[in-house]
Amino acid sequence: MNASNLSLKGLDLRAEIDRLRRTRNAVILAHYYQEPALQDIADFVGDSLDLSRKAEATDAEVIAFCGVRFMAETAKILSPEKIVVLPDMDAGCSLEDSCPPDQFKAFREKHPDHIALTYINCSAEVKALSDIIVTSSSAEIILSQIPLEQKIIFGPDKHLGGYLARKTGRDMLLWPGVCIVHEAFSEIELLKLKAQYPGAPVLAHPECPPHIIDHADHVGSTSSILDYALRSPDELLIVATEPRIIHQMELKAPHKKFIGAPGADGNCNCNMCPYMALNTMEKLYVALRDLQPRVELPDDVRIGAKKSLDRMLDMAGRTVGQGDVGRPVFAGD
Ligand code: 13P
Ligand code: SF4
Repeated sequence: MNASNLSLKGLDLRAEIDRLRRTRNAVILAHYYQEPALQDIADFVGDSLDLSRKAEATDAEVIAFCGVRFMAETAKILSPEKIVVLPDMDAGCSLEDSCPPDQFKAFREKHPDHIALTYINCSAEVKALSDIIVTSSSAEIILSQIPLEQKIIFGPDKHLGGYLARKTGRDMLLWPGVCIVHEAFSEIELLKLKAQYPGAPVLAHPECPPHIIDHADHVGSTSSILDYALRSPDELLIVATEPRIIHQMELKAPHKKFIGAPGADGNCNCNMCPYMALNTMEKLYVALRDLQPRVELPDDVRIGAKKSLDRMLDMAGRTVGQGDVGRPVFAGD
C-alpha cells in the first residue's frame, strides 16, 4: 500500500515522522530541491556531494532519502549494509534517462583511450561503467588531478561538461544529456529581470546552458549558490536553479529578497523539478513506517559503482564542505 491509496487524514505527519525516525534509528537526508516541509524535517540538507558524504558516514540503520533515485542509489552503494528508502521510487532524472547503460558502454568501447568522468546524475549501472564520478562541486578539483594528456569522456550533462571545458581549457568528449529544469530558463526573460533589478547578481547552476551562464555573476553547485546568496552583501539576488532552494535562503537570510530566474512564460514555476516533486511528507511517513520502497542493487553493479564513487571521495575528500571549489570571496573574508 502506498501513500496515494491510504488515508493519512488526521495524522500529525511531522510528529509521526519524528517518532518513526527515532524508533527506526533513521537519518533523513534531503536535497535542496525538495519541498520546504521535507527540507525542514530532514536531519541534513545538502548538495549531491555532501549528501553522499553524509550517507557514507552515518551510523543510522536506515537512510530515508528525500531526493531522486540516483541519489538514494548512491547512498546504498556507499552504505550497502543500511536500509535505504526513497519516498517515491519514480523520482528519476532527465540526465539519467538520457544515458542508457548499453549506449554508454558502446560509446566507451568506441573511445578506448578515454577515461569516463561521469556526473553523479546517472544510474548505478552507468556509474559501474565509469572511472570517476563527479558532482558539480567536486568536478573542478577532480579534473585538476587528471594529467593533461589524458583523454576524457564527460557525461551525461553536456552543459556541465561544456562549462568545465570552457573554464579549465580541457577538451572533453561530451555525452549529449541535459537537465530539463535548467534547460527551461529563458535568456530573454532573464535579461528583462536584470533590467528590472539592475545590479542584482545572477547565481546559476552549471547545468544551465551557456546562454544563461553567460549572464551569471556566480556559477556553482547548489551549496555554493546558497553560500554566495548568504554571504554576498547584495540584498536582492536572482537565482537560476531549481527555485525550492530559495527556501533555505529565506530561512537563513530573511532580510534579503531572492527572485527565481524565469522560464519562457516569464514565470519560474516551469523550472520546478517534476522528479523531486514526487516526494511528499505523506510518502516519507509511509516509507519510514513500512521501510518501503527500498533501494536494492545487484552486487556486481553496486561493487562496480562503488569503485568510481570511492575515487571521487578519495580525490575530493570525505568531509562535508572539504575541497569544494567555487566558494566566493567577498570583501572582509
Ligand atoms: P547539486 O546539488 O550537487 O548542485 O546538484 C544539482 C542537481 O541538479 C541535483 O539533481
Ligand atoms: Fe535531474 Fe535536473 Fe531534476 Fe536535478 S533538477 S534531478 S538534474 S532533472
